[in-house]
Amino acid sequence: MYLARILRVIILFELVRLGVTIKASDGDDVQCVDSIIQPAFNNTLLKNHRFQESPSEIPRTVETGKRNNLQSWEAQVSTANCPAGTVPIRIYNDSRLNVGTASHTATHAPVHEYAVIRETPRDYLYGAKATINVWDPEIEGDEMSIAQMWIAAGKYETGNLNTIEVGCQVLPRMYLDNKPRLFVFWTSDSYKHGCYNLKCSGFIQTSSSIVIGGSITPVSSFGGSQYEITILVWRDRISGNWWLSLGSNSSVIGYWPGELFTTLADHAVVAEWGGEILNSASHGQHTKTQMGSGHFPAEGFRNSSYFRNIEMVDKNNSLQTVQDYEKLVTQPECYDIKTAYTDEWKSHFYYGGPGFRSGAVTRVVDTRLWRINLDYHCLSRITDNEYDGAGMAAVAGPSGFTDLKCGGTTEQRRLNRKNRRCLMELLEPFGRRSVGDVKTKSNRDANQDQNPFVALQAFFDQEES
Ligand SMILES: *[C@@H]1O[C@H](CO)[C@@H](O)[C@H](O)[C@H]1NC(C)=O
Ligand SMILES: *[C@@H]1O[C@H](CO)[C@@H](O)[C@H](O)[C@H]1NC(C)=O
Ligand SMILES: *[C@@H]1O[C@H](CO)[C@@H](O)[C@H](O)[C@H]1NC(C)=O
Ligand SMILES: *[C@@H]1O[C@H](CO)[C@@H](O)[C@H](O)[C@H]1NC(C)=O
Ligand SMILES: *[C@@H]1O[C@H](CO)[C@@H](O)[C@H](O)[C@H]1NC(C)=O
Repeated sequence: MYLARILRVIILFELVRLGVTIKASDGDDVQCVDSIIQPAFNNTLLKNHRFQESPSEIPRTVETGKRNNLQSWEAQVSTANCPAGTVPIRIYNDSRLNVGTASHTATHAPVHEYAVIRETPRDYLYGAKATINVWDPEIEGDEMSIAQMWIAAGKYETGNLNTIEVGCQVLPRMYLDNKPRLFVFWTSDSYKHGCYNLKCSGFIQTSSSIVIGGSITPVSSFGGSQYEITILVWRDRISGNWWLSLGSNSSVIGYWPGELFTTLADHAVVAEWGGEILNSASHGQHTKTQMGSGHFPAEGFRNSSYFRNIEMVDKNNSLQTVQDYEKLVTQPECYDIKTAYTDEWKSHFYYGGPGFRSGAVTRVVDTRLWRINLDYHCLSRITDNEYDGAGMAAVAGPSGFTDLKCGGTTEQRRLNRKNRRCLMELLEPFGRRSVGDVKTKSNRDANQDQNPFVALQAFFDQEES
């Protein structure tokens, strides 16, 4: 036994020495790299950095959550068997995505959309925690969908926004697949520079097994088993480094050295939790990229994705349930958020949505052959802040979707008369055809059948009254 173990250690060290690639538990290629020569140490800001092997303390939980009635299980991040003193570094086939296309905070980047909560406590904050439901949202084209926490200080406008970001992301452009993956990110200059994972020098990993950028499994299923990961970030009061731990037992992964930051060097000012997607508005319409599970918050546990037990770290290194947060939703018709508080989950929320298809959920005229989506907001993006069409009808027949557009402005929540007329004109030919039964949302219960044109007219009449 003992000899076998020594042999194993020798073999592993030999692999490291030779720079051999090994397989992580999810099948990805990783290299075990000596932890004191990992990419972070190439950063000139860390020339005099003292490597911290483990945090001096872990935040204290003040309130202990009661037993959970909503059953969920812990998901696992991919691991690799690297020898002690080394860290697994994932190998990427594609190096295009070095600089983060990520995020925001104060000003939301034009094509990014959010459904988040933001906590700006009166006192500074020193970390954040949440348990995040794991899903694999569908992604359109080169887009992405993220469930994450942000910890930030500074201002976007003055170029000194510092952020620490961590969560799950689906980003096919970087990982060449659709799996949800653990990611870390940081910037100290309002996103002029910054990068994911260990792709640039910054984050220092201490775990010899967790693969940053590794996939998270299992994934939750709609109406079925729910999986989640717990993420905690806190500032070490002695070293000034920002530590990251994962899981219900807070296993330590590594840290963002204090030297990387300016405004975040001593404390954070704001923290956010929630979803972000990239909407490239290809084909002149809002993306179909999903956020969360792709279902709206109203659908609740097992259908909609959630963040639970949302906490922040205070000056005393204690975890406190967030309470005075605000909600920030850029496109409620596409992705929304619904917050709540219970004894078990404390502060939590459901969030997400289907993207473009949201119209189908809120205002639907439905039939076996025909589906008309009326959508006031989740529409094509013409310029950064302007959406066309107070109304669009997407008519799907047996041969697929046809998009029919009528102009308008987003300020009008309702279709004006002109746009309505336009829509009706567009839909009239469909209405004249024999299309079998049509059920509107309003008359579905009554089980009345209509053709789409009549249904739409009825829908408008109802809206007007
Ligand atoms: C280290 O930094 C130098 C200069 O910034 C760069 O050329 C080199 O590729 C970096 N090496 C690694 C391993 O990141
Ligand atoms: C990455 O590249 C290697 C070598 O070119 C290849 O064997 C591997 O399948 C690629 N991985 C992915 C995910 O495409
Ligand atoms: C707790 O953390 C340790 C590493 O510190 C790990 O080996 C163990 O599997 C974890 N337990 C659970 C339930 O995740
Ligand atoms: C969750 O989804 C199932 C299946 O579509 C549905 O029957 C149920 O009503 C949904 N739950 C809620 C709260 O909407
Ligand atoms: C931190 O601890 C001190 C002393 O116990 C207490 O007076 C103070 O209110 C605490 N601060 C916070 C933010 O809990």
